[in-house]
Amino acid sequence: MIKKISNLRKFFACAALILAVTWLHAFSPGGARAADNKAAATIEELTPSMSYKEYHKRYEAYYGDTTARMAEEGNPADFLLDDGKDLANKVEGSKGKSCASCHGKDALKLKGAATTYPRYDARLPGIMTFALQINTCRQKQMGARPLKYESYDQLALTMYIKSLSNGMPIKVSIDGPARPFFEKGKIAYYKRQGQLNFSCAICHVQYAGYKARSNLISNNKHHADHWPSYRLKWGKTGSLQRRFRGCLKNMRAKRPPLQSEMLRNLEFYLTYINNGDLIQVPGMRM
Ligand code: HEC
Ligand code: HEC
Repeated sequence: MIKKISNLRKFFACAALILAVTWLHAFSPGGARAADNKAAATIEELTPSMSYKEYHKRYEAYYGDTTARMAEEGNPADFLLDDGKDLANKVEGSKGKSCASCHGKDALKLKGAATTYPRYDARLPGIMTFALQINTCRQKQMGARPLKYESYDQLALTMYIKSLSNGMPIKVSIDGPARPFFEKGKIAYYKRQGQLNFSCAICHVQYAGYKARSNLISNNKHHADHWPSYRLKWGKTGSLQRRFRGCLKNMRAKRPPLQSEMLRNLEFYLTYINNGDLIQVPGMRM
């Protein structure tokens, strides 16, 4: 019974969020014109409704420093860091090696490596995410099985190796053969999809700073610099691609699998537009 009630509450909370944003969208200037544009295959360029400074003011007024303070008292995701470090030194697979065999004790030679990911890799060919690179090393260099995405060990190892780049600016390149994948990622971000006919950009570019029921829609600056993150709603640590899938679900859109081409391109686009932001894992979010 209690479970049923909480499911119902979740359902209504979700429906109300979507109604609120749909309303915002339909009655805003340009909203009707945009709705006519349903099946557009090209990018509909959007402009933020407010400056980042104004957005940030609203964020602080709404949430204060709640998550920052909680993180200071101890981010539950910190536990993964120690386990991730142990995994980096652990011998696994048919070749009798650990990450440390090639990347130094505690894999410390990988300091800074995360700043250039995701990146184009001709061997795929396509976008190599940091998580995929780590699994590729396990398979090819260690003869070990890849870690299941979103599993505890996979998140712990990825988070630990990424934490070696904490405080360093993201510097993703979209030059040369990487460019078409960036464009695909941008289209995925701007394309209307799902039963509600939304795009990521409508919320995170155009309506960032507006409230959708109990949520403040975030501006996409700083969206890619803190993953894996602990989320209170999940009660768990998770990846950026898991977060993508959550928003896709709210949009009633198809959810491609983790590390699928679409989600890798989307991660590439979003991380590139966050170039210069400082990597800081683990993050903590509502
Ligand atoms: C036998 C040696 C070897 C082992 C063991 C190994 N790697 Fe690698 N790793 C490499 C080589 C060689 C490259 C660069 C070429 C490539 O991308 O395959 C690399 C590249 C990387 C990169 C990208 C570095 C950059 O600057 O772009 C990361 C991250 C990485 N490895 C993580 C790991 C992790 C985590 C493990 C343990 C699960 C691991 N590697 C195990 C040899 C190894
Ligand atoms: C209906 C509006 C809406 C749409 C459409 C939407 N999102 Fe979100 N998104 C939100 C809200 C609300 C949050 C929670 C904001 C927060 O965590 O402060 C969020 C959070 C996020 C976050 C986490 C931000 C952070 O700082 O941790 C990412 C990343 C994200 N969305 C990406 C996407 C992508 C990619 C798409 C398209 C596939 C998308 N969103 C579509 C409303 C939306």
